[in-house]
Amino acid sequence: MAEKIIVTSALPYANGPIHFGHVVGAYLPADVYVRYRRMCGDDVHFVCGTDEHGVAITLKAEREGTPYEAYVDHWHTTIDDTLRRMGIEFDVFSGTSHHRNPHHRALAQQFFLDLQAEGYLLEKTEEQFFSEALGRFLPDRYVTGTCYLCGHENARGDECPACGKYLDARQLIDPKCSLDGSTPVLRETTHWYLDLGRARDEWLRAWIESKRGQWKPNVENFVLADLEDLRARPITRDLPWGVPVPVDGADGKVLYVWFDAPIGYLSISRQYWTDRGQPERFEELWKDPATKLFHFIGKDNITFHAVVFPTILRGAGKGWILPENVPANEFFNFEGRKFNTSSGWMIPDEAIADVPVDALRYALCTMMPETADSDWTWTEFQARINGDLADNLGNFVSRTLRFIERFFDGEVPACGAETAADGALYAAAERAAAEVREHLSAFRFRRACQAVMALGHECNRYYDTEAPWTSVKTEDGRPRAAQVMRVCVEMIRAFAHLVAPVMPTTSATLFASIGAAGTAPSLDAVGARPTEPGAIPGAPLTSCLPRFTDARGQEKAALFTKFPDQRVAAEEERLRTLREHMEAETQSETPEPTHDPVATTIEFDTFAAVDMRAGTIRRAESHPKADRLLVLEVDLGFETRTIVSGIAASYAPEELVGRRVVAVTNLAPRRLRGIDSNGMLMAGDGDDGKPRLIAPDPATPDGTRLS
Ligand code: MF3
Ligand code: ZN
Repeated sequence: MAEKIIVTSALPYANGPIHFGHVVGAYLPADVYVRYRRMCGDDVHFVCGTDEHGVAITLKAEREGTPYEAYVDHWHTTIDDTLRRMGIEFDVFSGTSHHRNPHHRALAQQFFLDLQAEGYLLEKTEEQFFSEALGRFLPDRYVTGTCYLCGHENARGDECPACGKYLDARQLIDPKCSLDGSTPVLRETTHWYLDLGRARDEWLRAWIESKRGQWKPNVENFVLADLEDLRARPITRDLPWGVPVPVDGADGKVLYVWFDAPIGYLSISRQYWTDRGQPERFEELWKDPATKLFHFIGKDNITFHAVVFPTILRGAGKGWILPENVPANEFFNFEGRKFNTSSGWMIPDEAIADVPVDALRYALCTMMPETADSDWTWTEFQARINGDLADNLGNFVSRTLRFIERFFDGEVPACGAETAADGALYAAAERAAAEVREHLSAFRFRRACQAVMALGHECNRYYDTEAPWTSVKTEDGRPRAAQVMRVCVEMIRAFAHLVAPVMPTTSATLFASIGAAGTAPSLDAVGARPTEPGAIPGAPLTSCLPRFTDARGQEKAALFTKFPDQRVAAEEERLRTLREHMEAETQSETPEPTHDPVATTIEFDTFAAVDMRAGTIRRAESHPKADRLLVLEVDLGFETRTIVSGIAASYAPEELVGRRVVAVTNLAPRRLRGIDSNGMLMAGDGDDGKPRLIAPDPATPDGTRLS
């Protein structure tokens, strides 16, 4: 039965270009999925646009001196263009700023008011950094400083890039305004918090538990861990750009970008239906419990889509549907490092300029970081293009079409007597379709590609075994050659259906080549015997295939051409130079220190807050799951505690029993590979770089507080 489906791709920030890492994470898989579901006859609504608010945008626009609207317009256009070039076809690509989408502001404000009415918002007045020179508050990354958790020097007010933790800007060490470097002061301001803890306790946990086994394992694990440490999060900011907070007296305050952005999915959809003259369709879709909603996102957006946005949707109490699934991908790297456009660590446009979009889409699908991080390498890319597309699929198609032109005057032969081998190939095609269906339904794009390629191999094998070039030459053999060619043509038809979600243009080319231009792809048809078994006269055959000029300057028609070795070598060479350059740079920036630099000065109170005690190890065992760790029972006089310590490289468990140690006893407990550690042992590296324990004086009894 046809289903109603909404598919969204994460709204890209309108503050920079998007690269293949983004494309493969949230846009290409969504587009493939949408094409697949449409092939199945489902009614799909595919929504995206740019995310145009937030500090990441205001800060950059201000640094450039560009007005906010002009700034986001520029990136909106650039991103739209990149996505179009990748063949990503949204129903609508709009955005969240008011001039682009007049529906967004009102809808985001309505959500705020609904949540407030439902008691989901907490109002708090607290101190926040303020710049006296600039006369404005400094939210999030308008303040930088040293991370109070890990000591990283360039932490931002909202999070630390080194330890990845969500930070409280007020606790940053040595805070500075990122606009002018001045030291900010604290001033009181009022903000609204979304009560995620209440959602968790009332229904969110149960809802997430109900998704167990349906969501991808990488997503499920992430979300379950998230639930443990869930508190109210502020959803407003003091900023001059964004959706104004709809409360009297809240001048100068806007909704936090992560609050308004996902509402963008709805407001963009409302804009689409309103502009098409069917405004009622919007709520019909988004409030119908039968509608299935899918959010395609990257790993870094999981919390917002699986926890925060559902809380906004259900908390508002108006019957908005919750996502059916959040098929997030992991990270996609480039030759072992993160993509980095500014340093040139990326795929240059020129390097792939003549690679057809479908080939890029296919290669990217085979490398997709579906359950773990993955990597683009030039050799892998070349193997997919040359091995899978040119030598396997392309070769099968070209040899079939050429053969028919040469020996059958370009007329596709009528079906003849079917042999067991023919039947086996039809069955293989049917199996491939079932696999593609199964894998795409479960967001396993790589496996779907593999299933298609496996059929390609079977087809080539069939062709080789049947050897039509021999049979066609004899009177007796010719009917068999004709039947073999017809089966091969039916396999081309099967490929045209099978590749359609990933390679839509290629699908159309394949249909056209066998005289079936305009056929709507469908997996149901794959493997079936032709409904019109007669000859197909005057099929266009090879004239439909893309033309290329080969290395010898000859004009050729082929479904795919190879990606040349020299190009791989040149790209690898470019990266080698770049890598050396980048390494030399980091070395010259940070000369090898002769000693650990003395850390930032702290107040006595900070030091006094650390509770260190003398103790004795009573038991020691290896950690069952980590070679580096030992599990120790430490006697503190007044109690014995389990402490997990990373000292296995220096000590065997048996030599530790009875040993005196200094333990930090008021550290928050941590779970280390499944075992709770209640404290930390003090140690320093020996001259071999391995940790050595520090012991108290024998006259200091267990339990004594050290200072
Ligand atoms: N702009 C965010 C990013 O690129 C994604 C926003 S997704 C939305 O990481 F749901 F908030 F829209
Ligand atoms: Zn940190």
